[in-house]
Amino acid sequence: MKVKKESIVDEGIRNRERFYKNDHVNQAYIKRAIHHVLMKIDQSLDVFTHQFPDCASTNGVYQPIDNIEWTTSFWTGMLWLSYEVTGDEKYRRVAEIQVDSFIERIEKEIEVNHHDVGFLYSLSCVSAYKLTGNERARDAALKAADLLIKRFYDKAGILQAWGDLNNPKQQGRMIIDCNMNIPLLYWATEVTGDRKYRDIAISHVRQAASYIVREDASTFHTFYMDPESGKPLYGNTHQGYADDSCWARGQAWGIYGFPLSYHYTKDTSLIGLTKKLSHYFLNRLPEDHVCYWDLTFTSGQEERDSSAAAIAVCGLLEMSRHLPLTDPKKRDYEEASLSIISSLFEHYTTAIEGEENGILKHAVYYKGGNMGVDESCIWGDYFYFEALVRLVKDWEMYW
Ligand code: GLY
Repeated sequence: MKVKKESIVDEGIRNRERFYKNDHVNQAYIKRAIHHVLMKIDQSLDVFTHQFPDCASTNGVYQPIDNIEWTTSFWTGMLWLSYEVTGDEKYRRVAEIQVDSFIERIEKEIEVNHHDVGFLYSLSCVSAYKLTGNERARDAALKAADLLIKRFYDKAGILQAWGDLNNPKQQGRMIIDCNMNIPLLYWATEVTGDRKYRDIAISHVRQAASYIVREDASTFHTFYMDPESGKPLYGNTHQGYADDSCWARGQAWGIYGFPLSYHYTKDTSLIGLTKKLSHYFLNRLPEDHVCYWDLTFTSGQEERDSSAAAIAVCGLLEMSRHLPLTDPKKRDYEEASLSIISSLFEHYTTAIEGEENGILKHAVYYKGGNMGVDESCIWGDYFYFEALVRLVKDWEMYW
């Protein structure tokens, strides 16, 4: 049952000493970074109570939208994190208004026919259930899990990301991002005792490991499987620079998603795989440790993707949590995480006083589609905050 990935190249971490310059990144420093996040959240709390920030900012400002995008839960997740770190009921009150909106969304099936119901319901409703025991939120998250497993193709063993399940042109496409949606399924098995959710998650993550990950430990963004025969077809990109390049955020979704599956399955091959993906990622960081939007770029004028950097930190910290103290790489991952976080805090955050209502600047949503290029992206803000919370407390995940 193990993922067979021994043939994948392990580059190791080149020039690892460059990550060992973090003496200043102590608890007081992380708390200052969290203070900045909370100040920015407070500025937007009224605007984003009954509405949500758009996926990406426009000229540095998130416009309010209804609960219709794949990204709306990132803001709700930030409110739950704020509630956890401060204990302040004002965050819980707004988060609960938003949970009601997510309950309505799944009941009416508003824009939920895609795999991102995992992101949507883990951060809004699973979090609500874990933190406050909200049974209505639990039921909504289970409905989302039931919807997600309808996207499973038995023979191919994968969940289709987007698109009409009955349209042959769209069938059988999995994407690396989905690694982050399947924790909802492991959780659904934990709360219901029904193994079907977990079995589907395990099947999907194994297929992702087998086909989305390339021999050099980079990743395709997307991969097509033949739903009839179950055979692998080909990989290509949607948001990356080229079919054979490595989209930075895709790699980051892998770096975080595989260890999340490890957390639930204890399949150690997923940790071995995450190490290789992480080494590929870390070896392509520019001097300030914040990746370009595609890892094909390591210097020059292309835009950075601060959101990919924040996601990768959460993945490195999650992986490192599962490594024994005797693992010689554990410290490397922790120091690399601190290097990235301090660069983000010092060079990529918005001013406390100012028009911008996001947290991290310089992210890229979809360069080829000219959407959210060099803007704030709401998931970047969420993962940056999650990474900071992981650094100050033993955090029980919403994933
Ligand atoms: N999951 C879509 C994205 O990362 O843009």
